[in-house]
Amino acid sequence: MFTLENIADSVIRCSLCPLHATRNHAVPGEGSAHSGIVLLGEGPGYHEDQQGRPFVGASGNLLNELIMSNNLKRSDLFITNIVKCRPPSNRDPSPDEIATCSSHLNHQLSVIKPSVIMTLGRHALSNFFPNELISKVRGKVRQSTNGYKILPTYHPAAILRNPSLRPTIEQDFKTLVEMANQVHQNDDTPESRQLPMFS
Ligand code: URA
Repeated sequence: MFTLENIADSVIRCSLCPLHATRNHAVPGEGSAHSGIVLLGEGPGYHEDQQGRPFVGASGNLLNELIMSNNLKRSDLFITNIVKCRPPSNRDPSPDEIATCSSHLNHQLSVIKPSVIMTLGRHALSNFFPNELISKVRGKVRQSTNGYKILPTYHPAAILRNPSLRPTIEQDFKTLVEMANQVHQNDDTPESRQLPMFS
C-alpha cells in the first residue's frame, strides 16, 4: 500500500530519468493530505535542490505570502511538483522527464485524493490539459480526464517578472479557499479535511 512517506522514499532513491544524476536532493513534496488541497509546481529550483523541500526560494516566499494572506497554513496543504528533481540550470523539464516522473505524482494523488489541485504555471497545467493556454483558463475550475478538479493559476515566479499579475493570482487563491470551504460544508465526516480556518 502506498503512503506519502513511502512514496517520498522511492522519490529519494529514484534513478528513472537522467535528472537523478545531477540533483543534490530529490524533492518529493511536503505537507498534509488533510485539507484536500494540492499545490502543484513545475520542478525544484536551486534552493529546493539544496534543501530537498519544495518552494523554499524566491517563488516559495511569494507562495507563502499567498497562502498566509488567505488564512491557510502551508503545513495543511500538500505542495509538490510535476518533476521531483531539478533540471540543470533551471531549464524546462523535458516531456520524457515529465512522463517518467508522473508515476510518483500519480501515486501521491491516489493517496491524497485531493478535492482540488491548483496548478502553478503552464507546465503543471499542461500535465492535465496539454492544449490549454494559461491566460485563457486560469481561475476556472475544470475536471481532468482522470477525475481531479483542477484550478489553474500562474506560477508565483510570474509575479517577479510581471508584478501586475499579483492581483490575478490573489483572486485565484480566493477561489481556492472558496472551493475548500464548499468541500468542507458538504463533508459529513467530521474528522476529515479539517482546516484550522474552518473550526
Ligand atoms: N518552482 C517550482 O515550480 N517548484 C518549486 O519547488 C520551486 C520553484
